[in-house]
Amino acid sequence: MQYPERLKILPLSEIGDYSMTENASKHNGPDHIGIIMDGNGRWAQSQGLSRIKGHHQGVETCRPIIEACQELDIHYLTLYAFSAENWKRPESEVNALMELLELFLMNETETLVKQRVRLHAIGRVEDLPARPRAALKKAMDVTREFDEWHLTLALNYSSRNEIVDATKAIAAKAAAGKLDPKDLDWETISDHLYTKELPDPDLIVRTSGETRLSNFLLMQSAYAEFYFTATCWPDFTKAHLEEAIRSYHNRERRFGRTGEQVDVEASLSF
Ligand code: FPP
Repeated sequence: MQYPERLKILPLSEIGDYSMTENASKHNGPDHIGIIMDGNGRWAQSQGLSRIKGHHQGVETCRPIIEACQELDIHYLTLYAFSAENWKRPESEVNALMELLELFLMNETETLVKQRVRLHAIGRVEDLPARPRAALKKAMDVTREFDEWHLTLALNYSSRNEIVDATKAIAAKAAAGKLDPKDLDWETISDHLYTKELPDPDLIVRTSGETRLSNFLLMQSAYAEFYFTATCWPDFTKAHLEEAIRSYHNRERRFGRTGEQVDVEASLSF
């Protein structure tokens, strides 16, 4: 699904102190934030702890950030919890991450229901181990009716795999005569991505000082803004999220137009 374009991001001077502005994002976004939760291992090692302790702490960070998104009126949050490449990690770490995923889902489902948050998953989730897969299915089933707040976990996710899977599905439809290749356009491809029910992300945040996308939402973030912070994920708080949003508000999103065009259209739409 494509997200309706926002024509102008208001300058900070016009919206005042973001943290003091109730529901500020309702006015000018972001409405969908994707987070690459990096640095759990380094956070742990810097304190003489095991990498797995870092992942435990990383899970602890998720709950307040999910809550912060509701407080800040951000309707879509997508967390990169396990990439398709993460299987290459030591078996003990992969097992710990899968156990943590299951625990997270078991512990959080009740809260998600209470907060009326719908859980989605993107990635080849069918290849997850049975227990976290079952916990995921249950959590998605019981939150299916909610339509205002959306938490998406990217699990066994890879943008390149997503393109492969979309292409296979489209090719199968074409082979069955259900789709004419001449009619193929971005809408068709977008409708076959794992994210077909989600708007494109407005803002992608990566923690821990790394400045790459690592196969996360490559197509969907074509017009996203990026925010990189040196803070490792276990130390990331609502205040850091607000800082990322402030930075977002200082950008002008032009979607291919000139700055002058954006200004004119913004003045017409406000
Ligand atoms: C990157 O840190 C983080 C991951 C590979 C996994 C992210 C997972 C969590 C935050 C916990 C699971 C989350 C949920 C929602 C169940 P890293 O290990 O690459 O850190 P490093 O770069 O310092 O080694």
